[in-house]
Amino acid sequence: MNKGEELYSGKAKTVYRTEDPDALIVVFRDSLTAFDGEKKAEVSKKGYYNAQISKKLFELLEENGIKTHYREMVTDNEMLVDNIKIILVEVIVRNIAAGSITKKYPIEVGQPLEPPVIVMDYKDDSRHDPMLNEDIAAALGLATKEELAGIKKTALEINGILKSYLDGKGLLLPDFKLEFGRRGDEIILGDEISCDTCRFWDKETGNSLDKDVFRFDKGDLVAAYMEVARRIVPEIFE
Ligand code: TMP
Ligand code: ASP
Repeated sequence: MNKGEELYSGKAKTVYRTEDPDALIVVFRDSLTAFDGEKKAEVSKKGYYNAQISKKLFELLEENGIKTHYREMVTDNEMLVDNIKIILVEVIVRNIAAGSITKKYPIEVGQPLEPPVIVMDYKDDSRHDPMLNEDIAAALGLATKEELAGIKKTALEINGILKSYLDGKGLLLPDFKLEFGRRGDEIILGDEISCDTCRFWDKETGNSLDKDVFRFDKGDLVAAYMEVARRIVPEIFE
């Protein structure tokens, strides 16, 4: 499968059409942004590690009955995916308090959130991704209440699968962000699941092994992403 016309270029990935109208190629780039694009960097190999981590986690979810847009890798950092119509809702699942929830509400970093907290934000950087509820999402024509209930249920199932898998790799999953899209009549998982879109903490040390290293200048970003890759896709280092 070859890259055709560029369809869309975001902050960290570029999407191309292919000869198959139902398939797209996603290129995981080395660009990195935070705080709605205010802070920017280029970090060599970041795209490669994120692509490989996403591939592995999409495969894991598919094996566990979750439908995703993932088809196969085209190159080390290029993924063939279904051409889905992304729903402009960021679904954030939180197991341990970190990041924005600890800024907005009186919750300490590290506080367990049981049951997990799900938040849905409207995906629009120019508006700083404002939080949605079912009524606003329906008024915006993003998805029906029934569809959002289905998305939430799937997000919780995904959380269970990822949490127990990552636990076996010595990683905690404080939170992560998902995006869903439409394939025909179905709503399936899209986007990526990587160190850019999840918080991963080392179980022993509590150290961040994700984009917080970049957001808050916590050290060597590539070393952190490589450590996650080393644990979940060891085969790429053989
Ligand atoms: P937050 O604590 O900044 O709200 O982030 C929650 C989770 O969502 C965290 O795992 C990082 C991820 N995330 C994204 O993938 N994209 C974004 O634009 C933001 C703000 C967070
Ligand atoms: N994804 C957002 C940005 O690129 C925010 C973040 O991840 O912190 O600015």
